[in-house]
Amino acid sequence: MLHLIPLATLLLLSHATATPLTDPQPLPLIIWHGLGDNYAADGLHEVGDLAIKTNPGTFVYYVRCHDDPGTDSRATFIGNLTEQLAQVCEDIASHEILSTAPALNALGFSQGGQFLRGYIERCNHPPVKNLVTFGSQHNGIAKYQVCGDDDWVCRSWISLLKGHTWSDFVQSHVVPSQYFRATNFSTGDPTPEYLAHSNFLADINNERARKNTTYAANMAALDRFIMYVFANDTTVIPKESGWFAQTNISSGEVVELRDRPIYQQDWIGLKELDEKGGLVFETTSGGHMTFEDDVLEHVFKTYFAPTTTAHWKGAGADVQELMEL
Ligand SMILES: *[C@@H]1O[C@H](CO)[C@@H](O)[C@H](O)[C@H]1NC(C)=O
Ligand SMILES: *[C@@H]1O[C@H](CO)[C@@H](O)[C@H](O)[C@H]1NC(C)=O
Ligand SMILES: *[C@@H]1O[C@H](CO)[C@@H](O)[C@H](O)[C@H]1NC(C)=O
Ligand SMILES: *[C@@H]1O[C@H](CO)[C@@H](O)[C@H](O)[C@H]1NC(C)=O
Ligand SMILES: *[C@@H]1O[C@H](CO)[C@@H](O)[C@H](O)[C@H]1NC(C)=O
Repeated sequence: MLHLIPLATLLLLSHATATPLTDPQPLPLIIWHGLGDNYAADGLHEVGDLAIKTNPGTFVYYVRCHDDPGTDSRATFIGNLTEQLAQVCEDIASHEILSTAPALNALGFSQGGQFLRGYIERCNHPPVKNLVTFGSQHNGIAKYQVCGDDDWVCRSWISLLKGHTWSDFVQSHVVPSQYFRATNFSTGDPTPEYLAHSNFLADINNERARKNTTYAANMAALDRFIMYVFANDTTVIPKESGWFAQTNISSGEVVELRDRPIYQQDWIGLKELDEKGGLVFETTSGGHMTFEDDVLEHVFKTYFAPTTTAHWKGAGADVQELMEL
């Protein structure tokens, strides 16, 4: 993994400029990027920089499956999510700075949103306090996205999916297939193939007969879960997946989360979270991953500002730069 400067050195170096301990410090922020992107991308770091500017002292960690940006980007298409997530959990739990925090805030873009939910449900060490997702596929996708003309990685893997979504080979190698969700056209119920073979989504949404109560407890323990949908998203089909809604892609009819069994029988703690006011449905204008002016700043101010209920001494102002050397 990353070649890190020993923590003792970092703390020594940052000592002189550290903010007084009496001020509440913002919790570290973990950001998980979307399909085709990588943890070192400029656009992603602009988001992180804005988070730091909005809440000075925030330590930002960009979630990655690999230290090489190209390999990290490829891992957004290719890999077994069970293994990717286990690796991410281990990286975060053993991280020199993150592991010293009482809690984290989390920001997920597109598929990174449901993967962060996987982190919370399966690992949550350290626990997440507020989760914000933008254009995520919480209720899966009903169709694969259209790849760019010269995006050969996307094209070659998507072509492999045709008719093979539920094979073990595809489910352990093609990332989007692991959150593909097939439903019966006339009943709207998930298909037996999906329930039997989905390597990720059917599990983290607790859709199988045997429920994991830890998943529900960890989600219900969040302070807030804020779900943004892009009003004109045509990449995520259906876009209402970002709110856990189910859409009949033939008629366009939408069944909202609160009218679905996952909520009513509280399979993953969303009802409990909603009843304490922690579930937030938001819309922002534009297509997939196009950000309205100030929407991110609004999110950082509203949900990730320091609070007196999560005490942390902070990482020190210089640590971010030193860790990125
Ligand atoms: C439920 O999930 C937790 C967290 O990943 C895991 O430790 C536990 O073994 C799971 N329980 C069952 C019954 O699968
Ligand atoms: C994905 O990896 C896990 C852990 O190694 C393994 O148990 C599982 O069988 C793999 N999934 C598929 C569909 O092969
Ligand atoms: C959809 O559900 C109906 C009613 O249960 C059933 O008769 C039909 O076979 C199912 N279709 C598929 C493709 O599984
Ligand atoms: C989805 O919409 C089509 C009409 O476009 C309808 O025939 C079908 O029964 C609907 N499915 C469900 C589950 O409502
Ligand atoms: C978004 O979609 C609406 C309705 O389909 C349309 O009127 C509007 O022009 C679109 N806006 C953008 C920014 O594409």
